[in-house]
Formats: sequence, structure tokens, C-alpha cells
Amino acid sequence: MNRRQFLTAASMTLGVSTYARTVEATAHVHPPSASAPRLIPPPLPTREARPFVHPLRMPSATGLFADVNLREPLRLTAKSTRQQLFPGRSTDMLVYEADSAGQKLWNPILRVRQGTTLDVTLRNELGEDTTIHWHGLHVDERNDGGGMHPVHHMQQYVYRFKVNNRPGLYWYHPHPHDRTGAQVHQGMAGLLLVEGEEEDALRKTLGLVWGETELPLLIQDKQVDTLNKLKYSMGEDDWIGNRVMVNWTPEAVHDVATCLYRLRLLNGSNARVYRLAFLAGGKRLPFTLIGGDGGLLHHPQQVREAFLAPAQRLDILIDFEKLPLGSAVTLTSLAYDPMENDGAPPVDPAIEHPGAALMGEALDIMQFNVKRPICANRVLPKILSSPIKLPVAKNRIPRRFRVHMKGLTWLINGKNYHESMHDIEFMVKGGDAEVWEIRNDIRSMPHPMHIHGFHFRVLERRGSPRQIGQQALNVSGITPTDLAWQDTVLVWPGEVVKILVDFSPALPGKNIYMFHCHNLEHEDQGLMLNFRVDA
Ligand code: C2O
Ligand code: CU
Ligand code: CU
Repeated sequence: MNRRQFLTAASMTLGVSTYARTVEATAHVHPPSASAPRLIPPPLPTREARPFVHPLRMPSATGLFADVNLREPLRLTAKSTRQQLFPGRSTDMLVYEADSAGQKLWNPILRVRQGTTLDVTLRNELGEDTTIHWHGLHVDERNDGGGMHPVHHMQQYVYRFKVNNRPGLYWYHPHPHDRTGAQVHQGMAGLLLVEGEEEDALRKTLGLVWGETELPLLIQDKQVDTLNKLKYSMGEDDWIGNRVMVNWTPEAVHDVATCLYRLRLLNGSNARVYRLAFLAGGKRLPFTLIGGDGGLLHHPQQVREAFLAPAQRLDILIDFEKLPLGSAVTLTSLAYDPMENDGAPPVDPAIEHPGAALMGEALDIMQFNVKRPICANRVLPKILSSPIKLPVAKNRIPRRFRVHMKGLTWLINGKNYHESMHDIEFMVKGGDAEVWEIRNDIRSMPHPMHIHGFHFRVLERRGSPRQIGQQALNVSGITPTDLAWQDTVLVWPGEVVKILVDFSPALPGKNIYMFHCHNLEHEDQGLMLNFRVDA
């Protein structure tokens, strides 16, 4: 059921609905006749302004968001637990649980060295299929954890592969057919940090200390009810939430010193796109982009804002140096045009997401309090990583994809994943590079398009909306965040985005991968296709 169907269903059950407020939202479905007594719609519930009072959860030795140096095989159990996430009642959530020297770790941050072997055994105790998808990693199909390789309830599966990605922030999450959105929303997701020489060098130059001046920030919005339950319903077009959590902390606050910080952000939300900026005293603070999904940029880029779509990562530096002690800096999402142009009337969030900010509405994420005095300041190097030579594409004519909606169904080139029975749509030669052109209909929504197993560079954006066009660096229309290697690119309605996909390293055999929208509701609805990479 998508947004439109949902509205119809909501209007049909209106008589027994406890949400009197749906009257206004569904008025277009059953317009009151002129003679009917006029309903005066009650005002929409206002969003509660909750102050930032909860100390940001940091990587630690045990518990939720624990930090593991992955040198040995690890066992993860997918299961349900109760966690103290909010003040008051504890919350049932789904997690990946590990045991380490008698201590429990939940959704641990896995830190691996580039070139070493990752060896993780998943045991499933969820009562339904699940997987671990290693988002952004160059792995073969068997280790990709896509929906074709489900791990059934009470079964085990071993993921074992050499980590040959560039150092960077990656992540892991479940990927079972139809249930990815539900499982991720209910808690399953973890960070995977690949470390290596390039990283070591940058940390040394900038005097960065992981967990001190280098912070992971996992941003997710969750729909939470008054009993602190995580609420999710299947079949919506995009699931947004009324609480923004950073590192599983609602309304997070963190004390910082007056120096340079490195923030490693992941948007782990189901569907919400953030337009990130830092505000101090109502003014935007500039920040420096140093990397994206697939590791460091060649040159740092000074920016004042950056869009971060679901599944994307950003590596940034922010300097609190010139701020007076006692000042507060808010990490916020600026208002933007959500461009939900698919023709469906927007869902009134009061129906399914009471208290949630609408997509595109301004939304504060967390707060930094400048509390501690100066630490030694460092100069940012002009070059961050060795020059990246782009591979040469094998295809002269780009491989074309059109993302569109027909009736109530999301399609790529006229096909829906579930309706096409998971067909393999095309083949690619391992080690090749190809130009792909992704065209999003005008009557559509923004789609964060993700390719499994491989990374790409954005070559060109055409037909971009103003909020993207105004960030363009040159005539190609690309924006600063497009300068990184990426595994997920946000394609706005009306946009045509050209990317150069690098299908290396070539892996033995024939491996099937997925290309899909990382709005998890769209993924579950089949805005996805399979392709095969042959040795
Ligand atoms: Cu992060 Cu196919 O997904
Ligand atoms: Cu992926
Ligand atoms: Cu989508």
C-alpha cells in the first residue's frame, strides 16, 4: 500500500478512527457537501520542542553502539532486546548482539583494517528471515547479504571476505525481501569503519582521536509513541519519524572543546533526507567536506550545507575554535523542497507520524556545547588522499535507467522487482567501468539510488532543482558531495544523473547484485533490480 492507498483506507476507517485529526487530511477524498454541517478541523498537533538534554552516546567498550576492533571471528545474533533509549519506559528493539568477554554488545561499531579478513557468523533469532548486508563493501554475492540469500529463523550463516575497500565509513543492515524497512526501523543497523594507512596519516596530521575529536554520528529518525514504543507500519511510501536519534540518543547533546572535530556521519534513516548545516547564534558555520561513502576526497571542500540521503555517509571537519566558551552549535536540517511530486496528496503526518516534522521541514538534529578550552590547533592538508584516476568507461552509450511510477507501483525501466520475479536485467564484465544514466521522472519523488558491491563517481547532473543547482561547482552540475566515491546517489524529480561505475575489483564467478532505491519503503515495494557481474 502506498501513500494514496493509505489515505483511502484511512478515510474508510474514519468512523472508528481515534484520530479525529484525520478529518482535515482526508477531506479531499470525501469533500463535505455544501449542505452538510461544516466540520471545523482542529489544529494540527504541534511538534513538541524538546530541549537537547541527553548526552550523546559514544563508542564504548560494552552495550549499545560498542566499539570492536575486529581482529578475530565474531558472532552476531539477530534478536529482540529491551534498551533504555528514552526517559521512562524501556524500548523493545531489534539488534545484532555480540558477546565479548562476558559482556553484551549491541549493534557494535566494527573497526577493520583494510586488507584483513572479516569473519562474522550471523545467527537469526528474529522469528523471520534476515541477513547482514555489508553496505558499500566490495564483496561477492554470497557475502553481500542481499535478499536472495536469506538466513531463516534459528539458522546460521558465515560471512567471510577480505576487506579491500578504501578506508572509510561503511555500514551493515538487514536486507530481507519486503522487511528491510521494518527491521532497520526497529533497530538493526551498525557502523563498519575501514581503517588504513591513508586514515592513519590524516589522523596524525590533524591530531584526531577516535571517540574524542573524531566522532561517528549515526542519524536516524524513528516514530515513537507515548509508551516509548518504536512504531512502524508496512506499505507506506516513506517512513518518517517524530524523534531524531543520533547514536541511538534522542535530543542528543555533546560537549566539545574549541578545536577541530572530525564528524563521520551516516544517514541511517528509512526515508528522511537531511539538508545538513551547523548553526551558531542563528548563523551558518562553514564546514569542510573531506570524504563521502567511499573514503577521502582528493582535496577538502569548504561548504555551508550538504544534503545527506538515506544510506549516504559524509566525512567532515568542523572547527569550533573561534566560538566563545559557552556557545551552542546546532546540527540542523534546513528546510528544503521535498519534491514529493508523485501525484499523491502528501500524507498528513498526524495520521501515521504524530509529532513528526514533514519531509523537508526544518529539523534540529543535535547540539554541541562549546565547553572546554582550546586544544592544539592543526592545519588542514591541501591534499587528503592520493589522486584518484577515474577508470575509462567501456560503453559509449550510457546504460539508461528511468525511475518512474505507474499506477501505484514504482518501476525501473517499466519493471518492478517483485513483479519481474527477481530477473537478472543485464550483465556487466567484472573489472570494467560503465557510464550509467539515471533519469527520474518529474512526477516522482527524490530517490537515493544505491548500487551493491561497487562504487561510482557522479559525472553530471542535468535538470536539477534549484536547491541542488545552486550548489553546482561547474557546468556539469555536480555538487561538492559528488566529488567523493559513492555507493548511493540522490536523484531528484526531473533530474538526469550520469555516473561512472567502477566494477573492480573483479571477483571470480558470476555474482548477482542489486540496484535499488534506499528509501527502504521503496526498496521493499520493489524499486529495485538485479544485475550480474561476470568474471
Ligand atoms: Cu544499504 Cu541494498 O542496501
Ligand atoms: Cu548496499
Ligand atoms: Cu525511492
